[in-house]
Amino acid sequence: MAAPPIAVESLMPAPHNTVKVWDGLVRLLHWLLVLSVALAWLSTLGLGWVKAHEPAGYVALAVVVTRVIWGFAGSRHARFAQFVRKPRAVRNYALQLKSGCELRYAGHNPLGGWMVVLLLAVVGALGITGWLYTTDYFWGTAWLDQLHGALAWVLLLLIAGHLGGVLVTSYRHRENLVGAMFTGRKQAAAPGDIED
Ligand code: HEM
Ligand code: HEM
Repeated sequence: MAAPPIAVESLMPAPHNTVKVWDGLVRLLHWLLVLSVALAWLSTLGLGWVKAHEPAGYVALAVVVTRVIWGFAGSRHARFAQFVRKPRAVRNYALQLKSGCELRYAGHNPLGGWMVVLLLAVVGALGITGWLYTTDYFWGTAWLDQLHGALAWVLLLLIAGHLGGVLVTSYRHRENLVGAMFTGRKQAAAPGDIED
């Protein structure tokens, strides 16, 4: 008798092995932030789209404002109170990482949590300095222009660190974190993981 065919679903991770971590608004805002920041940056490179700079920058600023509100009102893993951890926890995590035995977190890990805060703060500061520069009062102010430009470079460094962190964590825990920012789902906590 022929062996029964193997259902494709049986080769995929069972849905009950994953849990919802990122709510819809967190995911939507993340990818909107990526697109608007990329456009704001690219529009300064002399490739055209100069007119897109200010609208893209304002979209990024609006994303930050919405995300900050959501950080107090959103679902469990969207809240700052859940993922912004005390210096001691950050230090412990950094030491664990150094010795290759860091714990896995269901939401942001302690370093990633602070990276989120930094990314939002710098994009917010870019939006505000950019807007101020267009006002009559500050128009042509050299220091503000320089500050805006410097913040844009700081943001690029942070993004490089952010992507590095995402890749390292994905590799260390054999988990597709980028996919999770699309689906909202991550592997369920195993014994020893930090579910909080
Ligand atoms: C303009 C560039 C980017 C900015 C400003 C940015 C910003 C952020 C922010 C603010 C969060 C926190 C999400 C939240 O809790 O609301 C985050 C998380 C995340 N981002 Fe990005 N991001 C950028 C690019 C990317 C790209 C290109 C990828 C993928 C290739 C990516 C993958 C992720 C992932 C996987 C997380 C979740 C991290 C975790 O598991 O703790 N990001 N990002
Ligand atoms: C994510 C947000 C933003 C990023 C990454 C960004 C990035 C940049 C960069 C790299 C430059 C060129 C460097 C310089 O001339 O100093 C620049 C210039 C400029 N940005 Fe932004 N920007 C953002 C948001 C905004 C916003 C919201 C506005 C205002 C509505 C704005 C207005 C300007 C102006 C007027 C300049 C030209 C300054 C000059 O003529 O020298 N930017 N921005």
